[in-house]
Amino acid sequence: MRVGVLTGGGDCPGLNAVIRAVVKRAVKTHGWEVAGIRHGWRGLLVGEIERLDLDDVSGILPRGGTILGTSRTNPYKDEQGEAKIRATIEKHGLDAVIAIGGEDTLGAANKLAKAGFKVVGVPKTIDNDVSGTDYTFGFDTALTVATEAIDRLHTTAESHDRVMVVEVMGRHAGWIALQSGIAGGADLILLPEFPSTLREICDVVRRRQSQGKSFSIIVVAEGAQVSDTDGNSLFVPGEKRDAFGHVRLGGIAPSIAERIESETGFEARYTVLGHVQRGGSPTAFDRVLGSRFGVAAVDLVSRGGFGRMVAIQGTEIVDLPLAEAVGSMKLVGPELYETARVFFS
Ligand code: F6P
Repeated sequence: MRVGVLTGGGDCPGLNAVIRAVVKRAVKTHGWEVAGIRHGWRGLLVGEIERLDLDDVSGILPRGGTILGTSRTNPYKDEQGEAKIRATIEKHGLDAVIAIGGEDTLGAANKLAKAGFKVVGVPKTIDNDVSGTDYTFGFDTALTVATEAIDRLHTTAESHDRVMVVEVMGRHAGWIALQSGIAGGADLILLPEFPSTLREICDVVRRRQSQGKSFSIIVVAEGAQVSDTDGNSLFVPGEKRDAFGHVRLGGIAPSIAERIESETGFEARYTVLGHVQRGGSPTAFDRVLGSRFGVAAVDLVSRGGFGRMVAIQGTEIVDLPLAEAVGSMKLVGPELYETARVFFS
C-alpha cells in the first residue's frame, strides 16, 4: 500500500505534526509506504512527488510551515485536472491520498472523492471555520500569537493615551478576533458575522474617555462588516483573487483608525498582524491535535473511509463525510458573541 499526503491552501502551524503522524502511523503500524506530494494539488497535477520515510519527518514536530510546501492551486480550474491527477496517481502507484487543508482544499477533495478518487481529508486552518470539527489545528497557535500581541499593544496604548486597532485574520469567520479579543480584554470586537457601525466604535472610545480611560483596544477581523453613518462599508477588498476566487484581504484597520481620529479627535494607531499569525512553532495543543488527526487519517484510509474527513468533537476524534464539512462554514454564533459583548466597554 502506498499513500500520498499533501498540504493545500494557506500554511499553518501544526502541518508538520500531521505529516509526521501520517508517516509514523503508516510505516510503523501498517507497514505502508508514504509519498509526499509537493505544493498541494499542484503536485498531483504535475507529478511533484517524493517518498517520505521516517528519517524525513524526524525533528519536524515543532517546526512551523509544511515540509511539503503548499499552494492555493485549484485542480478544478484546469479542465484536464481530474485526468492529470488520475495519471499522476497511476504513475506513482498511489492507493490513496490524504489531503490536509481548509475549505478550498477539502472542497476539491470532496469533488475528487465523488469522482471516484480514494481521498480522505484532514481539517486545517488558523481560521477555525471548517464545519463538523470543533477545532482545526493552527487556530490555537494563531489565537496565542494574537492574544500576546494584544497584551503588548495594551501597554503602549495606555502609555500614549491612544486607541489601538488590531487587525487579525478571519475572512468570513471571526473566531480569532472573538477569542483573542476576549482573552486580551478588548474594548470592542468587530466580526464578519455581526455588522457594526463606525458610530458604535466611536461611542466606545468616547465612553471610555468619559470614564477616565484614555486608551482603547479594538480587535477587528480582516473581513469584518463595518459601515459609516452613510452606510458605506469600511471594508477594503483587494483587487487580486486567488485560484478559488477569494479576494485578498487586509487593510480594514487603517481605515477604522483614520475614521476614529477624524470623528473623535482621539489619537489612533493600527496594527495588522497578518501572516505573523500563521508562522512559527505550533502550540502544544496544535501539536497534539495535528498528531491525533494524522494517526486517525491513516486509520481512516485503512478502513476504506474514502470521501470522509477526520475531526474532533468534544474530546473524541471522529470522522464524517467531506460533503458535510464543506457544505457550509462554521461561523461565530449569537450566543458566543453575546458573551463577548459583556466585556465590551
Ligand atoms: O485561509 C486562511 C487565511 O489565513 C485567511 O485568514 C486569510 O485571509 C488568508 O489565508 C490569507 O491568504 P494568503 O496567505 O494567500 O495571503
